[in-house]
Amino acid sequence: MNALLQASEASLYLPVRARIAEVRPLTRLEKLYRIELPDGMSLQHQPGQFVEVSVFGVGEAPISISSSPSRSNGTFELCVRRAGDVTSALHGLQPGDTIGLRGPLGHGFPVQRFHGKDLLFAPGGLGLAPLRSLIQQVLDDRRNFGKVTILYGARHPSELLFTEELQAWSALPDVEVHLTVDRPDETWKGNVGVITTLFSRTSLYARNTVAVTVGPPVMYRFVLMELLGKGIPEANIWLSLERRMKCGVGKCGHCQMNHLYACLDGPAFCYDQIRHLEEAL
Ligand SMILES: Cc1cc2nc3c(=O)[nH]c(=O)nc-3n(C[C@H](O)[C@H](O)[C@H](O)COP(=O)(O)OP(=O)(O)OC[C@H]3O[C@@H](n4cnc5c(N)ncnc54)[C@H](O)[C@@H]3O)c2cc1C
Ligand code: FES
Repeated sequence: MNALLQASEASLYLPVRARIAEVRPLTRLEKLYRIELPDGMSLQHQPGQFVEVSVFGVGEAPISISSSPSRSNGTFELCVRRAGDVTSALHGLQPGDTIGLRGPLGHGFPVQRFHGKDLLFAPGGLGLAPLRSLIQQVLDDRRNFGKVTILYGARHPSELLFTEELQAWSALPDVEVHLTVDRPDETWKGNVGVITTLFSRTSLYARNTVAVTVGPPVMYRFVLMELLGKGIPEANIWLSLERRMKCGVGKCGHCQMNHLYACLDGPAFCYDQIRHLEEAL
């Protein structure tokens, strides 16, 4: 059992109080929060897992853990887009304020199964938030992985997340980063078009490549067609499926897709696990 669930062992639904240590604006809609758990507790998460964040008196929302376990150092990060009640209330909080947390919840990406593989990451928009955790983990354990390619797209240059980090990653040996936007502005010198237009910019040894994609549901069909067309085996394609969630622990059924619960069996899934499910993609 992980540290937070242990701390709230009276109930799966009881949040632990945590402190906001730092808030950093990333874009017009997204802020990055560094969160500190009580008594030096460690979150002990896997990349791809999420937490249920509560703002007291407002409500609770599932948010992916955006930093890797390898960089935990007693804190972890959440990248939060202002969308509705909970996330807007969270955007109003300051360092030193208290939130509630349940988790880490769900299944993340099985990082050890990726050892020895080339990795292709294809996040779209806010999808870079959960994938950043996995990318950091891989880059902190570099000798266990082959070439790393990151293809990242957003609607507008001002909506690209973690731009400084993307630049730093692109300068690392054996790491390729390609960016694209749908609607350029006058400063944009890069690729224009949806994320699939980036695939021609990189070469892959498909049979030894693991691909991980996280983004809006509309993106998956096209990215999957591209990955399968390149010959990447179905068992080497991973994605994160986000559904409306309430309990986050497999009890309420809100996130059910056929016989699977996105909160419990996922949100990280292998493509060959979900491709036949009518309600998955
Ligand atoms: C596993 C998981 C991980 C997530 N990780 C992040 C993250 O890292 N950062 C982040 O900012 N957000 C993340 N989200 C999305 C976030 O939980 C929702 O936006 C949440 O509803 C915000 O709560 P709210 O009260 O602010 O907005 P609400 O009032 O609940 O909703 C605001 C708007 O978003 C819509 N909406 C709510 N949930 C979803 C959903 N799952 N998919 C599509 N539309 C939805 C609502 O219909 C409404 O239009 C994640 C969701 C899941 C399921
Ligand atoms: S959110 Fe309740 S079962 Fe998944």
